[in-house]
Amino acid sequence: MEPVKVGLLGLGTVGGGTVNVLRRNGEEISRRAGRGIIVTHASARDINKPRICQTDGIKLTQNPLDVVTDPEVSIVVELIGGDTLARELVLTAIANGKHVVTANKALIAKHGNEIFSAAQKQGVMVAFEAAVAGGIPIIKAIREGLAGNQIEWLAGIINGTGNFILTEMRDKQRDFDSVLAEAQRLGYAEADPTFDVEGIDAAHKLTILASIAFGIPLQFEKTYTEGISKITGEDVDFASELGFTIKHLGLSRRTEKGVELRVHPTLIPKRRLIANVDGVMNAVLVKGDAVGPTLYYGAGAGAEPTASAVVGDIVDVVRVLTSDPENRVPHLAFQPESLSDLPILSIDEVETAYYLRISASDKAGVLANITTILADNDISIDSMLQKEHKSDTDKATIIIITHTTIEKNMNKALAKINSFDAIDSEVVRIRLEHLDAD
Ligand code: HSE
Repeated sequence: MEPVKVGLLGLGTVGGGTVNVLRRNGEEISRRAGRGIIVTHASARDINKPRICQTDGIKLTQNPLDVVTDPEVSIVVELIGGDTLARELVLTAIANGKHVVTANKALIAKHGNEIFSAAQKQGVMVAFEAAVAGGIPIIKAIREGLAGNQIEWLAGIINGTGNFILTEMRDKQRDFDSVLAEAQRLGYAEADPTFDVEGIDAAHKLTILASIAFGIPLQFEKTYTEGISKITGEDVDFASELGFTIKHLGLSRRTEKGVELRVHPTLIPKRRLIANVDGVMNAVLVKGDAVGPTLYYGAGAGAEPTASAVVGDIVDVVRVLTSDPENRVPHLAFQPESLSDLPILSIDEVETAYYLRISASDKAGVLANITTILADNDISIDSMLQKEHKSDTDKATIIIITHTTIEKNMNKALAKINSFDAIDSEVVRIRLEHLDAD
């Protein structure tokens, strides 16, 4: 049988990695897929640039439209990123009857509903394993391996750059800016590093995970997103003293009222496996009602880890090329007509515990006032720690860990506490999750 012909959009890190993996492992890959797979076409902004892969036998072009319209190409692999040109090219590829594999999380999170609907009408597949957590096959695990479960919640370290920054701050007492500069130098960070540190990249990925976990449409615009740029070494140290690690988590939980969809720095107990996922590594913890908690760990970025997911998707597409489109695994895990309209909860309605760091005058009654306000707002204290202020002996630093409460109650309490004269800077609040098996 003729090999399947693949056209790449983008021949950078992941494109080059994909060519190398397909060539190096070609024989085993074709034994798995049942057919040979060859890259015959590729587009790149500068076709003369030095590359990490050989390009002999590949028809190169600077115009990506040449690839998505070429009748020889059966599968288009989109690796250019962004969500404007990439959207146009993917929709054109679909309209031309081509299957699509993409590593583009922004594209799927923001335009996936439109893209999947177009693909369904055309009877083609759009595979996107590489869009979330690089080489970890988390889409396949949730969509297929856990198909017998009701997923209750999932929590992931799904941005390697952010995790690298927090790890270096904790282990080497380095400051935020110097670690970010190093992450950029090492090539982990997005083209715009605010996507990493402000949680946008993680929110793209969480949006996708929540959709396939709960069978809801992609709703990136409703994801609550908070970055790590305000995390200080002081909070990292206090958290550690209390037995917690601060991680930048993407968290989604199904509750009776709706679905929580949130990305923010989070204290998690040090004894959890996921708390020990350090550096640029990614991990996703998924709790199913039948299976219990399951953890998936691996490289979240990089040429060959991402290529591993891209090639896995290409093999999947090749295996089902001749199957009836109705009998394929649905894009969002659930049949498109069976997606649920569960609401996404606003952050005010989210239930979580908190770490509070309060800097206040060290005098009688201050702590009593604070605890009264918390009690008045139905917030119960789990533990507390008072430290002398580092530079001013008339001041105290109070650390409070609360039990789970509703965010709007915490907002009310903090507004009141922040208004006290005795409080000398805005209270620092970091959400806290126990991520236990219940
Ligand atoms: N900038 C991303 C990260 C790359 O740091 O995880 C992979 O999506």
